[in-house]
Amino acid sequence: MSRTPDLIKLEPALPWLSEQGSTGFVQALGRDRLLLQPTPGSRDGAHLTSITVRLNEGPTFTLHGACTPTAAEWVFVIVDEDQPRLLDMIGQLRKDQHIEICRNKDVEASDRFTGFSRLNFIPEALPQMDEADLDLSREFLGRTFSAPLLITGMTGGISKGAEINRRLAQAAARMNIPMGVGSQRIALDNPEYAAIFKVKPQAPGLYLIGNIGMSQLTGADALDICRRAVDMIDADALAIHFNLVQELVQVEGDRRFSGLFHGLERICKHLHVPVIAKEVGCGMGPDTVRRLTDMGFSAIDIGGKGGTSWSHIEGLRSRSALSQELGHGFRDWGIPTAYSLAVVHQAFPRLPLIATGGIRDGMTVAKAVGLGARLVGIGLPLLRAALESEEAPMEVLETLRQGLKLTLMATGATRLDELSHRLVLGHPFEREFESIFRA
Ligand SMILES: Cc1cc2nc3c(=O)[nH]c(=O)nc-3n(C[C@H](O)[C@H](O)[C@H](O)COP(=O)(O)O)c2cc1C
Repeated sequence: MSRTPDLIKLEPALPWLSEQGSTGFVQALGRDRLLLQPTPGSRDGAHLTSITVRLNEGPTFTLHGACTPTAAEWVFVIVDEDQPRLLDMIGQLRKDQHIEICRNKDVEASDRFTGFSRLNFIPEALPQMDEADLDLSREFLGRTFSAPLLITGMTGGISKGAEINRRLAQAAARMNIPMGVGSQRIALDNPEYAAIFKVKPQAPGLYLIGNIGMSQLTGADALDICRRAVDMIDADALAIHFNLVQELVQVEGDRRFSGLFHGLERICKHLHVPVIAKEVGCGMGPDTVRRLTDMGFSAIDIGGKGGTSWSHIEGLRSRSALSQELGHGFRDWGIPTAYSLAVVHQAFPRLPLIATGGIRDGMTVAKAVGLGARLVGIGLPLLRAALESEEAPMEVLETLRQGLKLTLMATGATRLDELSHRLVLGHPFEREFESIFRA
């Protein structure tokens, strides 16, 4: 079987220009090569040794290599010394691609199954309170928020990142809920991008959670990286994201994690802010959580399956048949959010848990709280809202809050910690109903 090389497709293609005056578009790229489409009349690719590629509204990258012209495309293989620059370029591009894919495509688990649909509340038809009696407030890592909601960390890309983060930060500050930023990796590599993440000055009082991926923390400099990430944005806590399946499907993903354990322990011990361990859509089981809490993590985002699927997104980015196949095959991989949350909460009842992954309405927020979540994280709907308008993130959050309030009142609860007693598996009185008919 012939194997398509592992290449990321570029839609739209990026313009390039050679020293010799040839021009065209980069159609795809991989760890060591670019696929160039020459504009008609461009000189013979065999003479190409240096090209400059322009990123969308971003910087230019000059790369050296050797070119082999084929029928429709030229294959430009990068010289070894230029490979770090190519990987840097791919890293910058990847963020913008994620945003465009998340905006335009169906990127969630194909069955949307989070497990919450198996749970229902017992309604209370006889109200005994006023709406003003409701208390949605929530304490988390020493701060009290107005609702158990979190704007979960999402990279905004290079082109739109600053605007997306500003809109989300303003909504979070207005509502007094915490917000995470997406991976700060690009800004740690290129300080000029730090402005994308520095949202506190525009959102007074905001509780801000920094973000870095496990792949960046396998070396001896892991603690230093985390300190720089926190200091860069004056973060109140740091989330370390665990995205193993995404890395494994991603064409350019990391495959070496053996140094991780030691680094994580050091970070949890010495970092001056609380550290949160965060899955991004495959969920966590109690054994993993035990190892994380032994290391010293202060809180866990179980990041369950059912919402945004990163293996699927990476498959959509790829031109390689293998990555597409893996992305498709692992689209629904993981522990459904409700299951992960319930088993971890049962094993660690006092551990602050965040439930993220496919939570889309206020009633489901209430179910997650009933299952033991201190905070409920929302991703994709808020990203799309922030791309749409200044006001849309606030509207999404307000709808969630109203749905949560309604669920509280309709179950006769005034406080969040009363919700767990009203939650049942299946339909209310299903078991009693069955026993009547069995008797
Ligand atoms: C466009 C986009 C970018 C994301 N980038 C990051 C990231 O950089 N770091 C991270 O920890 N999680 C990232 N996430 C994952 C989210 O924080 C969240 O765990 C995931 O989207 C599941 O929640 P959802 O189903 O509500 O979207 C990203 C999500 C989206 C949609």
